[in-house]
Amino acid sequence: MKRIILIGYMGAGKTTVGKALAKKLGLMFYDLDWYIESRMRKTVKQLFDERGEEGFRKIEHNMLHEVAEFEDVVLACGGGTPCFFDNMDYLNRQGETVFLKGDPDTIIKHLRMSRGVRPLLLGKSDEELLAYINESLALRTPFYEKAKHTIDIMPMDSFDKIADTVDEVA
Ligand code: S3P
Repeated sequence: MKRIILIGYMGAGKTTVGKALAKKLGLMFYDLDWYIESRMRKTVKQLFDERGEEGFRKIEHNMLHEVAEFEDVVLACGGGTPCFFDNMDYLNRQGETVFLKGDPDTIIKHLRMSRGVRPLLLGKSDEELLAYINESLALRTPFYEKAKHTIDIMPMDSFDKIADTVDEVA
């Protein structure tokens, strides 16, 4: 039984890498945000708007316990998932956790490329965005670093190349 769990900051590439890896290994792919959206029939943004971040984290925690029980899967978590409740310890018990570690420049580059709506980043100027990323990345990194494996991702790395590296370590 194989269960590979990708964690890391928003824009690290968890979803794109996860999809490529699942295809390569013939595993099912799950993205926790997408799972939450289909189970709740609401977007992540709607859940933030209606219940605040605290409400969203409770839902995320509950849904994580459903999705991280599935077997032979690649699971991409949300950027905040490992940093609330005992989620990170739980994830380490459930499978091969891999931290996709990107520096702020790589993260910003990826965020510009991806069209996802991220409530925590909305309405921020470029300057505010960089300050927020630096600050929250510093707070979150100790949680991410509990992963069993860490991969440093560089701005020029393709997502397929990162997927190959995840396959090698996990
Ligand atoms: C969040 C990351 C998002 C999503 C939500 C909160 C975060 O997922 O779960 O907007 O706190 O970092 P991605 O990392 O897939 O963007």
